[in-house]
Amino acid sequence: MIIFVTMSADGKIASRTGESRLSCYYDKVRLHKLRASVDAVMVGANTVVKDNPELTVRLASGRNPIRVVIDGKLVVSTNAKVFDVSKAPTLLITSNKAPEDKVKAIIAKGVDVVTLESKDGFIEPNTILNTLHSKGVKTLLIEGGGNLIWSFIKEKLVDEFRVTISPYIIGGKEATTPVEGEGFTDINSWLKLELISYRTCMCGNEIHIIYRVKT
Ligand SMILES: NC(=O)c1ccc[n+]([C@@H]2O[C@H](COP(=O)([O-])OP(=O)(O)OC[C@H]3O[C@@H](n4cnc5c(N)ncnc54)[C@H](OP(=O)(O)O)[C@@H]3O)[C@@H](O)[C@H]2O)c1
Repeated sequence: MIIFVTMSADGKIASRTGESRLSCYYDKVRLHKLRASVDAVMVGANTVVKDNPELTVRLASGRNPIRVVIDGKLVVSTNAKVFDVSKAPTLLITSNKAPEDKVKAIIAKGVDVVTLESKDGFIEPNTILNTLHSKGVKTLLIEGGGNLIWSFIKEKLVDEFRVTISPYIIGGKEATTPVEGEGFTDINSWLKLELISYRTCMCGNEIHIIYRVKT
């Protein structure tokens, strides 16, 4: 499983108000090529709320992956672009904490909806992966945000961490970072990475780094 994020030089993927347009044109192309190479691309609810992404392949050739939205309490709008299945198939993974009328409205749009049992709306990442496997998904890209990424990193379910460093400083302790949640504590628990490659972006002002997670 691959994570791809674009962060500012001070390590933020969005400002505290949710502004996240950090990528140059070439970084978007890089992301779209990666989308075209995987079976599914996944985002958390807040990314849909703040960015309203389409999650399709538009700046590269290749097929659209299945778009997967993780939203335990179902806070996203039924009109989100990702629910327009004329563009690409979409799978919503939610929980029994989701409002029933909203679930029905999204199903009516042609979205594949899987509702899982949960005490508080949180769905275990392993359960998400099992659901995806049952749908034939073998390769997965997580695009964010920081809370969804943390839930997978916490369980050490990530193979690669790809990050573009973009020439901005955003600042602010409430700005979103690539990995949110409570974080690990001592060095023994940290996720260990191995540098695979790094290159200057064609714009000349960004660096793209690929790390493999050490097992
Ligand atoms: N620069 C970049 O590369 C990049 C990429 C993507 C996003 N972003 C930015 O990141 C920000 C969003 O990040 P974020 O950390 O606030 O939010 P997020 O991770 O996109 O979404 C968090 C929400 O997703 C749902 N969720 C996540 N994991 C879940 C799980 N295991 N089970 C059930 N539900 C789960 C929950 O929604 P419910 O509480 O409703 O259940 C949770 O509140 C936005 O501002 C966006 O612009 C930046």
